[in-house]
Amino acid sequence: MVQAVEIQRTVTKKEKPSEQKLGFGVYYTDHMFILDYSVESGWHSPRIVPYQPITLDPAAKVFHYGQTVFEGLKAYRTEDGRVLLFRPQKNIQRLNKSNERLSIPYLDEEIFIDALQKLIDVDRDWIPSTPGTSLYIRPFIIATQPALGVAPSTQYKFMIIMSPVGAYYANGVNPVKIYVESHYVRAVAGGVGEAKTAGNYAAGLSAQEEAKAKGYEQVLWLDGVHRKYIEEVGSMNVFFKINGTVHTPALNGSILDGITRNSIIHQLKHWNIPVEERTISIEELYEAHEKGMLEEAFGTGTAAVISPIGELNWRGDKLVINNGQTGELSAKLYESLTGIQSGTLPDPFGWMM
Ligand code: COI
Repeated sequence: MVQAVEIQRTVTKKEKPSEQKLGFGVYYTDHMFILDYSVESGWHSPRIVPYQPITLDPAAKVFHYGQTVFEGLKAYRTEDGRVLLFRPQKNIQRLNKSNERLSIPYLDEEIFIDALQKLIDVDRDWIPSTPGTSLYIRPFIIATQPALGVAPSTQYKFMIIMSPVGAYYANGVNPVKIYVESHYVRAVAGGVGEAKTAGNYAAGLSAQEEAKAKGYEQVLWLDGVHRKYIEEVGSMNVFFKINGTVHTPALNGSILDGITRNSIIHQLKHWNIPVEERTISIEELYEAHEKGMLEEAFGTGTAAVISPIGELNWRGDKLVINNGQTGELSAKLYESLTGIQSGTLPDPFGWMM
């Protein structure tokens, strides 16, 4: 049941940043949402308060055992002043899947959607309107019980913070160079790769840093068992257009069930472009390239939407895709998805709330 949300408005509104210089996750809106959980009371005391630091006991479990999950979604302001959210039900469904994996209590879909709508309404004037900008929303749950025993926390906080953002990549939708990671792995079957949890991102940092030092923007993750099958790229899902068909690694428990990934698959099917979710090996990709059949490659995620891949380096063997240029399909997908999201194109799928 949705409880009444107490709203405490700030008396000192922050100055808004220029929409030309937003960056990603740099600025935060005036308010945030908090909901507490205890074993005795369940989820309780929903409130919107001025954006501020929170106080936690240093023994809070989140600091020691990483019991935490998060989501990411965006709100857009349309030309006629409406506010659109892209498939928020998908986020709460995935949050609950992550919760289940991390032994965090279930959160009602209605509570999540109500919290989102109320917080966005309070900070409505923070939604940027310049093309390419949006309000990035970061819901998350942390384990707050101060106890060092390794067991699920008895206390949690669900919070939502929001940040007006520009394009994820400062230089626009340009192909990135990707290093195929053969040493580190992001996740293994049976692990937490499918959950949106902090540790997955922390575990990817050293590979990302080492790739950067070699002149690559991100890494392509291979599976943790055979070091052979493609899983994700950086913190995004990955797609390859090979000989007219679009291929993406099938969800196998160690790959995040991306909402952009899912939307791209729907969009491709809607256009009658063949799309296959299956196991793809790195050798196969190189062979396809050798035969001149690897036409495009791109990552997909909420933050960047589409990120074309211009070059891969696997054990020193470099492969340039589409002359290092953004492919036609990548560009078309970016235009159609961001058009639906921002309300400039019709939404044939009924995705927008
Ligand atoms: C996304 O692509 O939206 C992600 O999940 C990356 C995010 C952690 C910044």
